[in-house]
Amino acid sequence: MKLLHILACFMLAGAPVWGQQAADTVAPEGAGAGLVQVSPAVRAAQDAKADGRAVVAENWMVVAANPLASDAGATVLKAGGTAADAMVAVQAVLGLVEPQSSGLGGGAFLVWRDGATGEITTLDGRETAPLAATPRLFQDAEGQPLSFYDAVVGGRSVGVPGTPALMQSAHDRWGRAEWAGLFDDAIRLAEDGFEVSPRLALMVAGDALKLSRFESTRAYFFPDDGLLEVGARLQNPAYARSLRSLAEEGAEAFYTGDIARDIVQTVQSAPGNPGVMSEVDLAIYRVRERDPVCVPYRVYEVCGMGPPSSGALTVGQILGMLEPYDLAAMGADSAQAWRLIGDASRLAFADRGRYMADSDFVPVPVQGLVSRNYMKTRSELLRGDDVLPEVAPGKPEFDHSLNLADDAAIEFPSTSHISIVDRYGNALSMTTTIENAFGSRLMVRGFLLNNELTDFSFQSHEDGVPVANRVEPGKRPRSSMAPTIVLKDGEPVLIVGSPGGSRIIGYVVKAIIAHLDWKMDVQQAVSLPNMVNRFGEFDVEAGRVSPSLASDLAEMGYEVSRQPLVSGLHAISIGEVLRGGADPRREGIALGE
Ligand code: GLY
Repeated sequence: MKLLHILACFMLAGAPVWGQQAADTVAPEGAGAGLVQVSPAVRAAQDAKADGRAVVAENWMVVAANPLASDAGATVLKAGGTAADAMVAVQAVLGLVEPQSSGLGGGAFLVWRDGATGEITTLDGRETAPLAATPRLFQDAEGQPLSFYDAVVGGRSVGVPGTPALMQSAHDRWGRAEWAGLFDDAIRLAEDGFEVSPRLALMVAGDALKLSRFESTRAYFFPDDGLLEVGARLQNPAYARSLRSLAEEGAEAFYTGDIARDIVQTVQSAPGNPGVMSEVDLAIYRVRERDPVCVPYRVYEVCGMGPPSSGALTVGQILGMLEPYDLAAMGADSAQAWRLIGDASRLAFADRGRYMADSDFVPVPVQGLVSRNYMKTRSELLRGDDVLPEVAPGKPEFDHSLNLADDAAIEFPSTSHISIVDRYGNALSMTTTIENAFGSRLMVRGFLLNNELTDFSFQSHEDGVPVANRVEPGKRPRSSMAPTIVLKDGEPVLIVGSPGGSRIIGYVVKAIIAHLDWKMDVQQAVSLPNMVNRFGEFDVEAGRVSPSLASDLAEMGYEVSRQPLVSGLHAISIGEVLRGGADPRREGIALGE
C-alpha cells in the first residue's frame, strides 16, 4: 500500500491524530512472537514467556524489550562483560529495532548496585532544556498552553539528549569490555538489515500522519512510499555510521562535530515548529550522579532514581503508605487491597504534582516526602472502607518555605526498560526513552530525536504562583521513570522497571507488591493484570482484570475505566538462581545462563 493511500485511508476514516496512546490500544498480545530466524535460546525464552514461565539462570541475565537487543546483551555477558557493557550493546540495538521508544536521541536513568562494594549509584542521563528555552516555551502568544501534539511534533520539544553520554559514563565507571566492540551487533544489524517486528510495523502504521511530516523520517519508515511489513528487512546505514563514530571516538562524537551540527540544524529548521537548541547546549551536556532514593518497605529497601525523576519518590511514597496494611493477607484479588493501593497512589500523585521537579532548579523536599512520620500521617488517611472523596498534596517537613502550584504535564506511554545482572554480582536497572512514540518525529543520521521537553508543565504559573516543573533554561523535565533495585539485608533481590508514561509508577508498584507481598514468581508478577490510579479514575486493564473486581471498585465509589495498559515490565529476581520475567504485553525476552 502506498503512503498517500495509507494517509488518505486514515483521513477518510476520520482517524484521530494517532500517537503512542492509539497504537497501544491496538497492540497485539505478545506481539513479536512471530519473529523468524531466532536462535534456540531466544526461541526457548519466547516459549517460556508464552507459557508464563520465568527464565532461570545461574550466572547472568538480561531482560530487554526486543529479542535482538536481549541477544546482543547476552553475547556481551557470555563473553565476560559487565552489566554496564551489556547495557551499551542492548541500548545500541534498541535504538535500531525499537526506535519508537528509546535511542541515541533520548535520555535515560540508570540505577547500579555494585557487586564488589554493595554501593548503589544512580546516574541521570535526562535530556535538558536548551539555554534559550523559557517558561513560555509551550504557550501561545496569549500565554495559553499549546495542544500536546502541536508542541511535540517538531524541534520545540527536543531536549539535549543524554543517552550517549550515559552509555559512556556507565562504561567508564563499570565496563570491562572494549568500548568499540559493544556496537558490533547493532552496526551489523543496521547495515545488513533487521526484521521489522510486529510492534514496530503496527506503530509505524498507526503514526503514519506524523511520521510522514518530515522528509528524512518519512523516507526511513515508508521505504518506496509503502507501509513497513512485519518481517521485512529494514536497513539503516545512517544509524550504522553514527554508531561507528561513537564506537571510534566515544560519546564526544555525538556532542560536538558533525552529528551535533546536524542535530541543531534539524531542530532549528523543523518546518512549522522549530526549536532553540544550539551546539553549545550539546557541548555542555553532562551526566549527573544523583543521590539514590531508598525507602524501607517491610523487610526490604526499595532504591531508585530521585529528582528530576518522580519515580522513586512516588513509588516510595505509595509503598510507605501501604506498609501498615497487611496486603499479603488480603491477596491480589481483593478490592480492599486495590483500594489501598489506588488511594495511596492518588495521594502520592498529589504530592508529585506539587513538589517534584529538577532539584537543581527547585527545592524538592526529598527526605520529607518519604520520611516515616510523613508517611504515617498520609497512611492514616487510608483507614476506612471507601474511596477517598478528595485528595490534596500534604505538607512534608522541609527547611524551605514552598509556595508552588500544581503541575499540568501530560505524559503518554512510550519508553523501554532494561534489567541486567552480570557474573560479578552487579545489578543494573535502566529506563530509557525518547518520550512519545517516535519522539519529536525528527530523524537525524538514522536516529529519532526525543520530545522530552513536553514532560515539563506547559503552564508555568497559576494565579502568579510558579509550578515546580515549569520550563527553565538548562533544567531537566520531571520524569516518571522508575528504574528500581530492591534490597534485602543489603543484597539485591529484585530489579524492575517499565515504560508507560506516568503509569510507570503504578506498573512498578504492582510488580513489587505482587512479588514481595503476594509471593508471585517474577514472571507472574510482571504478567499480573495492571490496575493504576493516578488522579482518581481507576484504570483497569481491559480484558484481563476480572469483572467482579472492577465492579467491587465501582461500588466503592471509583470511576472505573477499562484501558489497554500496555506496560513493559522487565524484572529479574535474585535468589539462589536468577529468574527473569518479560512483559507479555510487549516483545521483550529474558536471556540468561
Ligand atoms: N517521558 C517519560 C518519562 O520520563 O517519564
